[in-house]
Amino acid sequence: MSRKIHIFDTTLRDGEQSPGASMNTEEKLVIAQQLIRMGVDVIEAGFPISSPGDFKSVQEIGRIAGDDCVVCGLTRAIDKDIDVAAEALKTAKRPRIHTGLGVSPSHLRDKLRITEEECIERAKLCVSYAKKYVEDVEFYAEDAGRSEQDFLIRVIQAAVDAGATVVNIPDTTGYNMPDAWGARIKSLMENVRGIEDVTVSVHTHNDLGMATALALAGVKNGATQIECTINGLGERAGNTSLEEVVMAIKMHGEYLDAHTDVVTTELTRASRLVSRITGMNVQANKAIVGANAFAHSSGIHQDGVLKKRDTYEIIDPADVGAAGSEIILSARSGHAALRHRLSELGYSFEDTEFDDVYQRFLEVADQKKEVYDEDLEAIVEERAREVAAIYTLDALQIQCGDPLVPTAVATITDESGETHVVSATGTGPVDAAYKAIDRVVSVHGDLAEFAVKAITRGIDAIGEVSVRITAEDGKVYSGRGADTDIIVSSAKAYVNAINRMIQTMRSKEGK
Ligand code: KIV
Ligand code: ZN
Repeated sequence: MSRKIHIFDTTLRDGEQSPGASMNTEEKLVIAQQLIRMGVDVIEAGFPISSPGDFKSVQEIGRIAGDDCVVCGLTRAIDKDIDVAAEALKTAKRPRIHTGLGVSPSHLRDKLRITEEECIERAKLCVSYAKKYVEDVEFYAEDAGRSEQDFLIRVIQAAVDAGATVVNIPDTTGYNMPDAWGARIKSLMENVRGIEDVTVSVHTHNDLGMATALALAGVKNGATQIECTINGLGERAGNTSLEEVVMAIKMHGEYLDAHTDVVTTELTRASRLVSRITGMNVQANKAIVGANAFAHSSGIHQDGVLKKRDTYEIIDPADVGAAGSEIILSARSGHAALRHRLSELGYSFEDTEFDDVYQRFLEVADQKKEVYDEDLEAIVEERAREVAAIYTLDALQIQCGDPLVPTAVATITDESGETHVVSATGTGPVDAAYKAIDRVVSVHGDLAEFAVKAITRGIDAIGEVSVRITAEDGKVYSGRGADTDIIVSSAKAYVNAINRMIQTMRSKEGK
């Protein structure tokens, strides 16, 4: 059996330190419930002395966690902090006090203004003071990532000797390179007496975008706890992202000799919940939980994924609770992707017909970033309604505005192949377009009804126009047209109705 890696979630403490991500107790409880459902091992519920709200959150989360997970409260290496944390943690069945202080030259010299010997003494004292209240005490060596290694070994030795059950080695400023960080953890494993009897934790920040790599380098070299947050929330560039380390361990368990007990199918739900509650959007290309994590856009990739999902996907979306792989239809999509989506929508075409649909799809895709199902349906329906093209609207140019006189220039080809370029003015752009069309067509219909609706989503949606025109004999003919330009849709709808009228007249005359 591989080593169990304990997942210590600090979304509610370090994650909440993200600017703009503060949460109230009720919100923290909702997130804590999801963390419990997901099977994390430790929830760092807050920093009790920092505010009455944090105190209450730790207290309430302790109440709901029961035996399911450890509930942890953060303190500085100060007796009063520890007293308050211990009080807040009284409700927890499995309480942990997380205490410690800075250990790097910069923290000692510029922040704490203490000597190395004083630091070691305070490390011992805070652990033994916390031990008066709870058995489970985690010691953190803040800014361990920039500390002198020999000194770090001495501090961690002092914490272990004082009874720490967990020693947390943070790269507080996200400064390290993965190899160097791994070597630091390895050196602690080799040089601190009794370290094999405590849990070694890594707490890494993402300032160089390497928090996940650092945490995994720590695991590879002996750490068995990772401190992380949902969506990688946290101070500055954030903490290690829970979903990333959990999935990396799942995929590379053998290499890392590691596993976690996190229920990975809950990851997407957790991510969305935290994003909704904190108001912090997840970037679309975020690993594991981003909106594009399983979306395929280029034609080559789409073709591969449609043949076999794992040609371009290393994770089955179902494993993280995501809806499924997504094929994004855009101007980069090829025949395979379009044919596949059309068949999912219930449409199949012979090759020559399909080429036609594909051309129309490309025209729409050139005008829109993404082509949705509704767009495809509009394309297919437009084809189905096609009547013999007695007149074809090739182009339409409109000039209108205030105080301009609405003017339309239409290019129309008739069934003999002759192209006519005509212009007209009107009371508005549609009126001008219809008058221009009337200059070419051999029949005329009075506009009886005109309706426009957006049939697809977005500002660049396809608009469909339906018209009903009345012929001289009183008969009514309908026509429809769809385009991203509403005036072009209107002109297409009118030409479509005219074509229908002529076709009907001809069939009656037996032509
Ligand atoms: O980044 C850090 O060092 C911390 C400690 C308080 C654990 O968040
Ligand atoms: Zn931190």
